[in-house]
Amino acid sequence: MANFLAEFRDILAKGDDLPTLPGVVRELQAALDDEFVSGGRIASIINRDPPMATRLLRLANSAAFNCGTAVGEVNTAIQLLGFRQVRALCIALAVVNAFSHRRDGLIHGSFWQHSAGVAFAARELARCLGYSEIPLEQLYMGGLLHDVGLLLMDQHFPTRLEDSLDVAQACDEPLWRAESILLGTDHAEIGSLLLGSWSLPPAIVSMVASHHNPRLAPEKYRDACWLIFAAEIICGGLAPSLPIERLTRARAVSILDTMRAADYDVDALLMELGVATEECAPV
Ligand SMILES: [Fe+2]
Ligand SMILES: [Fe+2]
Repeated sequence: MANFLAEFRDILAKGDDLPTLPGVVRELQAALDDEFVSGGRIASIINRDPPMATRLLRLANSAAFNCGTAVGEVNTAIQLLGFRQVRALCIALAVVNAFSHRRDGLIHGSFWQHSAGVAFAARELARCLGYSEIPLEQLYMGGLLHDVGLLLMDQHFPTRLEDSLDVAQACDEPLWRAESILLGTDHAEIGSLLLGSWSLPPAIVSMVASHHNPRLAPEKYRDACWLIFAAEIICGGLAPSLPIERLTRARAVSILDTMRAADYDVDALLMELGVATEECAPV
């Protein structure tokens, strides 16, 4: 099974049986590349995809975005959140949609609650620790998508995921290490290859690829990868964690220490996280 990576690359190259990025996102990307595009034009593209419009409004109304007023229309969401934020959210929501069919494996509610938690925590950490050069909407998107490889494994390679879970349990190892032992790759690499094939921004692809190993990220994106890594560990200390990722609160505190954020109020962040993730997940 160790050559699963080669097999996956092959499947990706052929484009067989794997989800594709919805047309509405390609249209949105093209429209937003035009610097003179109007909010009305963007809203009309999003409104042609009602599930996406509904999810966008739900997110805009969640505590994670705290718009200060009820957002009932896509046009208003665009005005309040801005084009860049809306583009990032729509891409993330489209990815959610591409994996919307359910199996009994991963519990999707907790999966997206975890993803929303990591997204929120990464953005708040960046704000509080002064990482002003990293676009916050990119971090949020990276957080929402960091474990997309798990969804891909769950829905397209369930036996491999189940075998990896068994090894993780038997060896008391994190899932990604068990995947590496068994498959010669892990859900971070698999997810990043899929997003790369969809031409998502390199920053996002790096955040997904390096969320277990930020030291290996390209220098340009390393800080963002550390923030996702830290956010993930913080989320491991409370409800929106994926038990299979085996993260602990003690590690959350130690990683913040490593990032010289020892004074950071972990408890306040954990409380905010609880509220934010409850309201926006599953997105
Ligand atoms: Fe995760
Ligand atoms: Fe992960």
